[in-house]
Parts: sequence; structure tokens; C-alpha cells
Amino acid sequence: MSTDLDPIYEELKRLQLEGMDRVFIEDSTMALLAPIATPAAQPIAPPVPAIDLQAAMNSGHKPNAPAPEELAPRKKAVPTTTPLPNAATVELPEGNAATQMQWLQQQVENSPACKERLRPGEKIVFGEGALTADIFYCGEAPGEEEAAVGSPFQGKSGELLTKILSAMGLSREAVYMTNILKWRPEHDKPYGNRPPTQDEMEFCLPYLKAQLEIVQPKVIIGLGNATVLGLLGAGPNRKMAAIRGTWQTFEKIPLVFTFQPSYLLFNDTMKTKRMAWEDMLKAMDKVGLPISEKQQRFFQPK
Ligand code: URA
Repeated sequence: MSTDLDPIYEELKRLQLEGMDRVFIEDSTMALLAPIATPAAQPIAPPVPAIDLQAAMNSGHKPNAPAPEELAPRKKAVPTTTPLPNAATVELPEGNAATQMQWLQQQVENSPACKERLRPGEKIVFGEGALTADIFYCGEAPGEEEAAVGSPFQGKSGELLTKILSAMGLSREAVYMTNILKWRPEHDKPYGNRPPTQDEMEFCLPYLKAQLEIVQPKVIIGLGNATVLGLLGAGPNRKMAAIRGTWQTFEKIPLVFTFQPSYLLFNDTMKTKRMAWEDMLKAMDKVGLPISEKQQRFFQPK
């Protein structure tokens, strides 16, 4: 039986196929959905229990996010922010890579616009790793776990990224990793992470460009849908499904996009893992890392 939920379900499936792993829903939209997404409502096809839909749509990096009624009351205040100013102009001072990176980190940490967007207890997530790294991982934005410690790619998605690096013969310390956005995007939901907006990413781009100028990597790996929009700008076919695994450039540096680790956690199939792995092999090849036969065959059907 067709219901009013069908188009929403179809749209969520379409976004998932495109590689979208998170959907942020405004309260006003949730309020519209509420009357049809209750157990008392007409049976729906396909059957999506109301609570699952809501959790799936809001759970962000947390595959096992609690159902809303299990949540403790939110303790942390949501910051009230003023509109973002124009992006800063960043001119790196003279000095070596370490002093330049330190200077840059201070610029971000002292930026009133960045500071204002932190909830109590949250930190700026500037980025970390080797300043001479060949491979530069660029995510979308920190989530709750990253903001709590001030380090990118923490929690389960961070563990997966560390495992992927280890399969490549690398460690976290051997690469550089950061996000386009340097703070966790604020929203008023009690849990989950919101993808960054185009405006937010544009505000932070000068910081990312300066990080690239310092590290001068041989390849950038963009992790997640929003990085496609953030690094290439909005436009037709700026979607993970269309662009994943193809060579692009950003700041004249070869760039390849692939799925977020959290997407791989949700979509734990050999096919998806193989697709992501092939993107890593491409990057390894580009930077001249040796690739063993065993590495070539990872996630291939036996
Ligand atoms: N963790 C990050 O630091 N960035 C992402 O884009 C996702 C998870």
C-alpha cells in the first residue's frame, strides 16, 4: 500500500545509494512526519517503524544511537551563534612547517567565529599528523567524539580508519588528517551529528588550504559526501556516486573521494568495502607506495 511516507523512504534510499550517511531533519519537518510515523498509523509499505526512521535519520556516526525515548535529558547548551563573517585571509608567516602549523592552529583556535560555535566542553578539531605526509585525509566535520577530544576521526569510525591505514601499511602518524570544518556543526538535537553547510565549509576553506600549503601532500583523500561539495563546490554531479574513485584536483593536488568510515560501518558489504579499498589502492599507487598481491586482493570475492 502506498502512503505519504513512501516518497520520503524512496528519497532516503536514493541518498544512501549516493553515499549519504546522515540526514539532518529540521524539527518542523519532524513535526510534519510525526502523525504518520506512529505505530497507530496505517500500515506503511515498506514498513519502517517510526522510531527506526527517526534514529536512522538522526544517528550520525552512531550506528547504535539510542531511541529518542531512551535519551537522558540534554545537558549541554546549544550555542547561539551570530552569522558567519567572511572567510579569513590566511597568509602563513615565515618559518618551518611546525611553526607555521602552530601559528595556523592558533588562528583557528582564537577565531571568535570558530570559538563561538563550540558547545561547553567541546574543542576545535584542527587536524594532526605528519607535516611531511604524502597522503592527506580530509573529512567533513568533527562529530561529538572528535569535538570531545579535539582530534579527528575518533570512536568507531576512527578505529575503522586506523584499520584501513594499517592495511595500507601506514599508521595515523604517517598521514595527515583533518576536516574541512574545524568545529562540530551545532544543532539542537540531543545526539547525532549534522553535516556541514556550504557556507560553513567556505568559511573554513582558507584554513584547509593553508594546511595543504604546509604539508604539501601528494594526494588528498576526501572522505564523505560533504567533502565533494566543500572541495569542488556545488554543481551537477557533485555526488559521491558520480565522482567516487575518479581523479580530481584541489589546489593543484590530486584528489580522490571515497566513503566516510561511518558509511562503511553502516554498509558493511564486501562490495562497498572493495570500492573504498580500491580508492585507497589508487592513492597508494599515486604516492608510489608498494602494493603487494595480498593487498591487491583485499575484499575481492574468493
Ligand atoms: N570524523 C571526522 O573527524 N570527520 C568526519 O568527517 C567523520 C568522522
